[in-house]
Amino acid sequence: MGVGTATRLSAIAPFRVMEILARARELEREGRDIVHMEIGEPDFPTPKPICEAGMAAIASGAVFYTPAQGLPALRVAISGFYRTRYGVEVPPSRIIVTTGASGALLLAVSALVNPGDRVLVSDPGYPCNRHFVRLLDGEPVGVAVGADSNYQLTPELIEQHWDSRTIAAIAASPSNPTGTITPVAHLETMTEIARKRGGTLIVDEIYHGLTYEGGVSTALALSDELFVINSFSKYFNMTGWRLGWMVVPERYVADVDKLAQNLFLAAPTPAQHAALAAFEPETLAILEARRAEFKARRDYLVPALRRLGFEIPQMPEGAFYVYAGCGRLTRDSFAFARDLLERAGVAITPGIDFGSLGFAGVMYGDPRSYGIEVGFKF
Ligand SMILES: Cc1ncc(COP(=O)(O)O)c(C=O)c1O
Repeated sequence: MGVGTATRLSAIAPFRVMEILARARELEREGRDIVHMEIGEPDFPTPKPICEAGMAAIASGAVFYTPAQGLPALRVAISGFYRTRYGVEVPPSRIIVTTGASGALLLAVSALVNPGDRVLVSDPGYPCNRHFVRLLDGEPVGVAVGADSNYQLTPELIEQHWDSRTIAAIAASPSNPTGTITPVAHLETMTEIARKRGGTLIVDEIYHGLTYEGGVSTALALSDELFVINSFSKYFNMTGWRLGWMVVPERYVADVDKLAQNLFLAAPTPAQHAALAAFEPETLAILEARRAEFKARRDYLVPALRRLGFEIPQMPEGAFYVYAGCGRLTRDSFAFARDLLERAGVAITPGIDFGSLGFAGVMYGDPRSYGIEVGFKF
């Protein structure tokens, strides 16, 4: 008998949407025209000034490793972005450039979680969060959030679920899959609750920039003791470049740097050079025009879906997702998503991907019986 697989794999679920995507691609090969509302990335290409900076970097031979913490000039540029966009001073020394928000989340969890430690995550929420915690032999605790809590963790929920084994909570604002935003006052109280209990918050700000009812403030304005994650993937339309960043408390910098060296050596060098152009006024003008387009799509799609019988209690205030209850139309959101693809040529995400399992890191029973929601990307 050969070697088996690690037991932790049983707690890590695949993305169900990949099945939908694979079938969509198959139908496309057969000549069908498919509307893609399933993939969590902007349909806009990377803005030209960023591509040009990346190509120039490659042409000039910038293809070697950078320091693990990232290109110094990029860390200065990110610090400058916090100053101009949010009016917050973040020293470049606390900024670590990562392989997307994914790399940042893995680094944050690796720096914080001991075996058996609990981390609170919202359910529904971004599924990789709970998987990263499991990977480190921690225990993700899914906290059910719904329309009554704006689909976000709240101070009350944090108080209620934080126990002696809890060391952190992960909050994403705006969130995936619901696009809702945590009010600053909530974040402030949650930060204080975590601090009092000897823990911290990991705040995922990957959808910052993509808000439609006014701006949001960064959690970095509240405390220097939080782990705040961002990415070039979504607002900056750079998903495939695999680039993000994280701001960590000063006393964690050396340890996170050490982890980054070991896990990744460094984020991709051409991508880092390309991102230097991301904060230029010319690029930001392109991104702002695209944000207006996302808002127009949202304003069309949400009322239209409601008229079709989908339940959307909260208008998404950010990101580019609609999380829609389809309980009036089906009892099985996965079958519904498959059906919609076959019959109407529209690919969407089954709600199961985002939780709704009452999970403690494991899936119970037949996944098709869970979740009567589906996700649309606009
Ligand atoms: C909430 C959230 N965090 C993190 C990520 C990871 O993004 P990336 O690694 O491309 O920056 C995603 C991607 O969809 C996300 O939705």
